[in-house]
Formats: sequence, structure tokens, C-alpha cells
Amino acid sequence: MPFFKALVGGFYDRVAEDPVLRPLYPETDAGLPLARYRLTLFLAQYWGGPTTYDEERGHPRLRMRHAPFAIGPMERDAWLGHMRHALAALDPAPPITAKLDAYFEMAAEAMRNRD
Ligand code: HEM
Repeated sequence: MPFFKALVGGFYDRVAEDPVLRPLYPETDAGLPLARYRLTLFLAQYWGGPTTYDEERGHPRLRMRHAPFAIGPMERDAWLGHMRHALAALDPAPPITAKLDAYFEMAAEAMRNRD
């Protein structure tokens, strides 16, 4: 869990300052504490950790939960760019970096709902 907390922390530190992504987040609190908490739980669960996300939020249904947000190629690339920075800052072993990077590339494209 500490790894996912640090990863999502680094990611949302950047999103909070991003003029393209920040306006998408309904959360008013500058640090986006709720978004951090949810994404940390989701990723930890996805990679074999506790199922607290499901217990608290129900089934992920990520595409449905992202439908209210206009996510085109620019938003997708901004999201992926920040996640890659956060991952590089933690610099886990190369096989882990490769696996997470491939997952985030696929998942970010899957959330795109605009051309
Ligand atoms: C591609 C660009 C993406 C954008 C612009 C985006 C934006 C957002 C926004 C605005 C929210 C609502 C904030 C909140 O309530 O937490 C959200 C929630 C969430 N996003 Fe994304 N997202 C993107 C990609 C992804 C990807 C690739 C994943 C998973 C790997 C992901 C996982 C989540 C999760 C788990 C939540 C919380 C859902 C909930 O429990 O309500 N997002 N996202």
C-alpha cells in the first residue's frame, strides 16, 4: 500500500496544478484528498491488494464513472504524462515499471470518451 499511496500522491500533486485536468475534478479541496484516496484504493485492489475499494465504492465500472468528464486525447495524454512522472520518481524495478506503464497506457485510452 505505501507504494500506491506514494505513486498516487505524486500523480495528484501534479494533477492539482494542471490547467487541463484540474477543472475536471468536482472536488473543491485543493489537494484532491478524496480523488487520491479512491485511486489509491482502486490501484491497490487491481494489483492484488485489499478489496476496500469494492467494499466502499462498489464495482469500479470506471468507464461509467468517467462518463461525466470530457476525456479526449489531450486529457488522456496529460493523465498518462503525470502518472509516468510519478512512476519514474519512485523508480521501481524495471519489470514492475514496464507492467504498470503498459497497464496505465491501456487504461487511460479506455477512459477516453471523446475524439
Ligand atoms: C484518461 C484520463 C483520466 C481523467 C481525465 C480522469 C479523471 C477523473 C475524474 C475527474 C474523477 C472524479 C474524481 C473522483 O471522484 O475521484 C476520476 C475518478 C476516478 N478515476 Fe479517473 N481519470 C482518467 C483516467 C483514469 C484511469 C486510467 C484510471 C485507472 C487506472 C482512473 C481511475 C479512477 C478512479 C478509481 C476514480 C474514482 C471513481 C470513484 O470511486 O468514484 N482514472 N477520474
